[in-house]
Amino acid sequence: MSEKISVLISEDTVNKKIKELGEQISRDYAGKQIHLICILKGGAFFACELAKRISIPVSIDFMQVSSYENSTTSSGIVRIKKDLDESLEDKEVLIVEDIIDTGNTLHYLIPVLHARKPSSLKLCALLNKPDRRQKEVEISYLGFDIPDEFVVGYGLDYAQKYRNLPYIGVVELDKDDTE
Ligand code: IMP
Ligand code: MG
Repeated sequence: MSEKISVLISEDTVNKKIKELGEQISRDYAGKQIHLICILKGGAFFACELAKRISIPVSIDFMQVSSYENSTTSSGIVRIKKDLDESLEDKEVLIVEDIIDTGNTLHYLIPVLHARKPSSLKLCALLNKPDRRQKEVEISYLGFDIPDEFVVGYGLDYAQKYRNLPYIGVVELDKDDTE
């Protein structure tokens, strides 16, 4: 089965939004240094573009998590596959994630990071699927609300493909093509 990708949010629209988010974050944290936590792998493309648009001092660290899922539902159990290198103590921490879907990942992760005593802890997400939410998560900075469709690009993958697309696309499975 092959798949086709249709554009949901264009490259130009995504880039404009990231510029706006960077400017807003720079204003909100004026006079401070911000510590970005990039959630791998999906958040990497967004985090790099966002960091370039932030005009106050920025440091960045990386974390990888995985959710245990069965075929239909997210279990809500999250495992840290790669932890941060640096302490969060007394830092202005902003988590940068590609998409908030069920909310399970961030619902688990936020208290874990809070316990490391940052000065502040907020969440920035490029995309949000409100219709899929199982656990409430506060998103301080959001790119776009999107409908309940499986999207790729800008870090988001389908079977590890399409992360490098410079736009957000929807995967359409071509069911006629059985091989
Ligand atoms: P959660 O359901 O909010 O915990 O999100 C878990 C993860 O699922 C996200 O960080 C993404 O990596 C992935 N994910 C959710 N929706 C999509 C999608 O539409 N395309 C690609 N990955 C997705
Ligand atoms: Mg992710």
